[in-house]
Amino acid sequence: MDPRLAHYFPPLGVRVASGRLELRGIGTDEVLALIDVVRDGVHDPAQMPFSFPWTDASREEIPRNYLQWWWRELATWTPEAWNLNLCVLWDGEVVGVQSVATRDFPTVRYGETGSWLGRRFHGRGIGTAMRQAMCAFLFDELDFEFITSSAVLDNAASLRISEKLGYVDNGVDWSVPRKERVSVRRLLLLPEDFRRGDPITVEGADALRRFLGVRV
Ligand SMILES: CC(C)(COP(=O)(O)OP(=O)(O)OC[C@H]1O[C@@H](n2cnc3c(N)ncnc32)[C@H](O)[C@@H]1OP(=O)(O)O)[C@@H](O)C(=O)NCCC(=O)NCCS
Repeated sequence: MDPRLAHYFPPLGVRVASGRLELRGIGTDEVLALIDVVRDGVHDPAQMPFSFPWTDASREEIPRNYLQWWWRELATWTPEAWNLNLCVLWDGEVVGVQSVATRDFPTVRYGETGSWLGRRFHGRGIGTAMRQAMCAFLFDELDFEFITSSAVLDNAASLRISEKLGYVDNGVDWSVPRKERVSVRRLLLLPEDFRRGDPITVEGADALRRFLGVRV
């Protein structure tokens, strides 16, 4: 990525590394690699783990949709409402995305994580490692007071990761991804309950904090 982009827009310059894992801002190279991963499949098509069914798009539709999502996420970023989307790499290979979404962050100090991996990368512990790295980054570097997550009840992998990391029950909800309601489990992680993974090393946190208007 041209360093001027990260200089002007610090979310693009974030890098969190932990063992074989790296999370980093999504630039042009990353988004093009992610399109290939999405086209190869993210989950069993019989299930829909997302509240918006973006993975139901055809192979032909995915590149345009995904690019538009990426541009929209960057273009609509404001201090009041932002989503930090980080590309996930495992042993240097692009495998998925780990995100956090928040509103009125300087006041509420919490956000909701979301994530996905290409289907061929499931079941190797990457989902656990990427959520652990993101939660460590949010608590340690951005002063999050708590972190929420949610998963449809048949998403055993996501629910298990939340359990392993120390999330507690935070109620129930409905989601309507495919015009039918499905039950959602809401979860909450407090810093004192967080079971960490490998240590993280971070780049770009000072610039991001200044950009977000939180402590420097
Ligand atoms: C959710 C997701 C990121 C998890 O990533 P992953 O790398 O496959 O998960 P991990 O290998 O780190 O671990 C998952 C845990 O769930 C368990 N698990 C996985 N599938 C399971 C199943 N069907 N039943 C019971 N447990 C299951 C694993 O055994 C593991 O627990 P363990 O460490 O105690 O053995 C990945 O499955 C994914 O991208 N799914 C599609 C998108 C999605 O669901 N996103 C989340 C929306 S809330």
